Amino acid sequence: MLLPTSAGEFTARAFECPSGAIHLALVCGELDDGHRVLTRVHSECMTGDALGSLRCDCGVQLRTALRAISAEGRGVLIYATGHEGRGIGLVNKLRAYALQEDGLDTVEANVHLGFPPDARDYGETAACLGALGIQSLRLLTNNPHKVDGLRSAGVAIDDVVRLPTSAHVRNRDYLHTKQQRMQHTAPAGEGLDEQLPQVTDLSALLGTVSATDERPYVVLKYAQTLDGRIATHTGDSKWISSEPERRTSHALRAACDAVLVGVGTVLTDDPQLTVRLVPGASPLRVVLDTTLRLPPDAQILADAAPTMVVTTERSDVARREALQARGVAVHVVDAQPPWGVDLETTLRLLRARGVRALLVEGGGAVITSFLREGLVNRVIVGIAPTILGAGTDAVGDLNTASVASSLRLHGRAVHAVGDDVLIAGNLS
Ligand SMILES: NC(=O)c1ccc[n+]([C@@H]2O[C@H](COP(=O)([O-])OP(=O)(O)OC[C@H]3O[C@@H](n4cnc5c(N)ncnc54)[C@H](OP(=O)(O)O)[C@@H]3O)[C@@H](O)[C@H]2O)c1
Repeated sequence: MLLPTSAGEFTARAFECPSGAIHLALVCGELDDGHRVLTRVHSECMTGDALGSLRCDCGVQLRTALRAISAEGRGVLIYATGHEGRGIGLVNKLRAYALQEDGLDTVEANVHLGFPPDARDYGETAACLGALGIQSLRLLTNNPHKVDGLRSAGVAIDDVVRLPTSAHVRNRDYLHTKQQRMQHTAPAGEGLDEQLPQVTDLSALLGTVSATDERPYVVLKYAQTLDGRIATHTGDSKWISSEPERRTSHALRAACDAVLVGVGTVLTDDPQLTVRLVPGASPLRVVLDTTLRLPPDAQILADAAPTMVVTTERSDVARREALQARGVAVHVVDAQPPWGVDLETTLRLLRARGVRALLVEGGGAVITSFLREGLVNRVIVGIAPTILGAGTDAVGDLNTASVASSLRLHGRAVHAVGDDVLIAGNLS
């Protein structure tokens, strides 16, 4: 039967396996002679696939694989139930998560519970592939043990096609464990200096993420010209930086729990603030808007990702209610003259909502107020080899009287990305 999905149309076939597990095969196009079929054998992960959990990369891998197969117009995704938690089941997976909260890694946790690091068996998967007439495949995976397991079960694999994802601060340790202890091939992509891979491991750029109980870890990121402008005098900032640098920005969004701008940026740029240039999950989008100047048709309100608006008593109650009715979270906090909404309260609010890593993407007023209030942990600036002259300054007045008292970055990392230079460092 046909199963239309957001990635494209598939034919669905369910296989009842002898173990009691059900394997769902989604077939795209004609498999013809069954050779070199682009195939994903996806192990069921209810938390990641269905609920968007950020503890793992499963949901992003599932959607990326479906898109890749659909784009090719020919291929198969086997959704393997019974493989939950690398074969230990949902309840034991949650037990393993609890152990990981206590400091064990994903391998140690499974072993501590009395299971092997990977308890999956691929015999039933091989039988499904055979029943579909598949002779050989190009397997979408980062996992060499899955390749070995399928080959041992008699499946011919011509090629392995990697499926890295843009890591989130919540799953990057997990992905690094998979790389170091389970020999997965760069599941979080290559480092920034590896000739601009499609998926980049941003660990060096993000630094050590250290939220407190009161505040998220705040990463300030913007792209500027050589002469320190983030936009022209007309407000145009598309695009100061090169495509690879913008891809890095999308990966930073995918790494963080929330991305924040002021309403000025929404009014000028109408950004979506979603993750589109890399395989990753879009974060919560936060807008600071004292009086609710946010237009109802702003792209940031589209349902591609959740949105929160932080406003003050100066905004119209009916407008707040209209936003809430659309599923937008609206929070009223104190005003903080001359900036707008009170930033300390906003950060406490975000932390209470579970935000550990916050990416502040501007514009100029928001960059300045965060720096002036001393609320930034990490600064990441993309510098384009362009001189603009008069325009919007990246940073306004910080009341700095001498060079010696300027804000200085510690633990710096510098990378060439496309045409641009990225400089990152901590503020004390
Ligand atoms: N190159 C880049 O990386 C980059 C990134 C983003 C934006 N931009 C550019 O930046 C320009 C927009 O700059 P902008 O300064 O107008 O935008 P902004 O900083 O995004 O928004 C500023 C507005 O946010 C509101 N706000 C509420 N609370 C605030 C607080 N605590 N601190 C600061 N602002 C607060 C204020 O408006 P209310 O008083 O009405 O609330 C304020 O005018 C555009 O030209 C855009 O293209 C460039």
